Amino acid sequence: MSELNLILLGPPGAGKGTQAERLTQDFPLAYIATGDMLRQAVAEGTELGLKAKQFMDAGDLVPDEVIIGVALERVEADDARDGFLLDGFPRTIAQAEALEQEMEQLGRGITAVLLIDVPDEEIVRRVSGRRVSRSGRVYHVDFDPPKHEGRCDIDGSPLTQRDDDRPEVVRARLAKYHDVTAPLVRYYEDRGLLRRFDGTRTPTEVHDHIRATVATLRLEDSL
Ligand code: AP5
Repeated sequence: MSELNLILLGPPGAGKGTQAERLTQDFPLAYIATGDMLRQAVAEGTELGLKAKQFMDAGDLVPDEVIIGVALERVEADDARDGFLLDGFPRTIAQAEALEQEMEQLGRGITAVLLIDVPDEEIVRRVSGRRVSRSGRVYHVDFDPPKHEGRCDIDGSPLTQRDDDRPEVVRARLAKYHDVTAPLVRYYEDRGLLRRFDGTRTPTEVHDHIRATVATLRLEDSL
């Protein structure tokens, strides 16, 4: 069976991380989330983290020359050889072109780009209620609460709020999304790779829809 190489696309807070957690249980995919990689680098104080922090805190994108090499290195890694799920990359046309070139060189291709659509007003509501555990599990105080308030269901660690989930930073992230990331919708539509999902449905409904689409793609590919 051939590999599944998937990209999750959508505005901040659309539910990309939420769906990624479920999809990686359905399909054997290496999960590559540039936002998580950058937050870890910031927490560890690495050179990458020091370069990225000021951009992330302002709701801006980390420059292409900083992120492209880091993301492509993960795509080439052994665990991603049989398929991957990219979350948060590419985010600019330059990043998409770099990925396309890399895939060509590796003799591989993108299977599909999964766009999770959510209107701006809903985003602010979602992101302000988001809480994350130490292990990266994502919750929402109203829509997806933990069993015990303030504690992760899996490891019991205290839930915290991300630094860039403050309302003024969320607005900056949304503006950036419309400005430089949304053009990727057209880019992937032109290549026949885009699949749209209504992200305003419940997490389970969104998941069911994406899973069915990905299962069909895998089946078509194996015929
Ligand atoms: P990143 O971590 O990638 O953030 P993002 O794209 O802004 O996405 P989020 O993680 O905020 O949201 P999500 O779509 O995963 O939603 P979630 O599932 O958590 O990037 C952070 C920063 O890093 C960027 O701003 C940038 O500075 C930098 N960066 C990263 N990649 C980069 C790149 N390639 N180039 C340059 N810079 C880069 O859900 C949100 C909330 O809603 C949760 O509380 C969840 O429980 C809830 N929820 C989810 N689904 C539903 C639903 N269906 N109904 C109701 N609630 C829901």
